Amino acid sequence: MSLYTNRQWFYVKRPEGRVGAEHYELRETPMDEELAINEVLVEQRFISVDPYMRIQQAERNTYDLPHPLGIVQRAATVGQVLQSNSSQFKPGDWVLGYSGWQTLAKCHISELQKLDPELAPVSTALGVLGMPGRTAWFGLMEAGRPRAGDTLLVSGAAGAVGSLVAQFGKKAGCKVIGIAGGPAKCEYLINRLKLDGAVDYRAFSTTAALAQELERVTGGWDVYFDNVGGWITDAVMPLLKLRARAVICGAIAQYDGGLDQPDLGPRFLQHMLFKRATIQGILARDFTHRMEELRAAVGPWVKSGEVFLDETIVEGFDQLPEALNSLFEGANTGKLLVKV
Ligand SMILES: NC(=O)c1ccc[n+]([C@@H]2O[C@H](COP(=O)([O-])OP(=O)(O)OC[C@H]3O[C@@H](n4cnc5c(N)ncnc54)[C@H](OP(=O)(O)O)[C@@H]3O)[C@@H](O)[C@H]2O)c1
Repeated sequence: MSLYTNRQWFYVKRPEGRVGAEHYELRETPMDEELAINEVLVEQRFISVDPYMRIQQAERNTYDLPHPLGIVQRAATVGQVLQSNSSQFKPGDWVLGYSGWQTLAKCHISELQKLDPELAPVSTALGVLGMPGRTAWFGLMEAGRPRAGDTLLVSGAAGAVGSLVAQFGKKAGCKVIGIAGGPAKCEYLINRLKLDGAVDYRAFSTTAALAQELERVTGGWDVYFDNVGGWITDAVMPLLKLRARAVICGAIAQYDGGLDQPDLGPRFLQHMLFKRATIQGILARDFTHRMEELRAAVGPWVKSGEVFLDETIVEGFDQLPEALNSLFEGANTGKLLVKV
């Protein structure tokens, strides 16, 4: 008889528009605990929900193939070893993996990275010292090329990537303005993240009105770190300064349906010409081999508390689909995680 039961969220239906529980099926499967050589059984503690999951639910190819139907939702995970058939891992060890939305996973040790809870809270492997941190750091430093005195404008500024970009920008000596939804998030940007300004995009109903406010608050931007796309970016783009750099990181405003529509919006390329500006898309996976650099640069700030590590934790494995949906409602500040 099996000792363990695995609980798994299978991705079974492609959403049109918003994703929710109806696109998933929760299944319980007995887990045979036999381990092959160099295999370990991991019990997940934190499971990541990320906007890219919604991109991969689209039928068309993007930077990746669509997520297949009928398999466990793919996701990064942090868990603890329950049983081990490897001399390199012992029960209780904390590990980062990509095991998806399931409570248990048998993994070959090559699929896991051991975490040291003494160095940093283990959940940071899914945040500042993981994929979102890598995106923020390399996206800003390599594509944004911030200089002291630059004006850095960040959309999605209260989220996982945005809140880090904003803080890294302050460290680089930039004047940082964040765009976020709602007065509470703007208050958070000013008082928690100590930004120089904040704009609540939800207070504006037209691109022109938002652009006017952004111009008033920023006086134009040298670096724009774009996490959201859509009409917010339409309002931002013409406000670029000479030799400005636009970093295209995400377009969450277009993920729940918009990616399948033709791109609409003002033509901004003439502004790139007039201002000799650059625009660059960036992808976290292109920097996976440079995690040591990230840890060296950002690790000390994490340890000293100089970077504010924000997490929104949703309790309960059953909440995973709803937690994914909540990213599109703006329910989170910092990194959204589900605690199993
Ligand atoms: N290029 C890469 O390798 C890479 C890696 C990681 C993430 N990303 C992208 O970066 C962006 C942020 O990701 P994250 O993980 O840090 O998520 P996040 O910012 O923590 O969460 C998403 C946030 O997006 C905002 N949002 C949702 N719908 C919106 C809409 N229609 N218009 C404007 N804002 C909206 C919400 O904040 P408000 O309340 O402020 O609206 C929400 O809290 C996403 O676009 C993601 O795809 C890219």
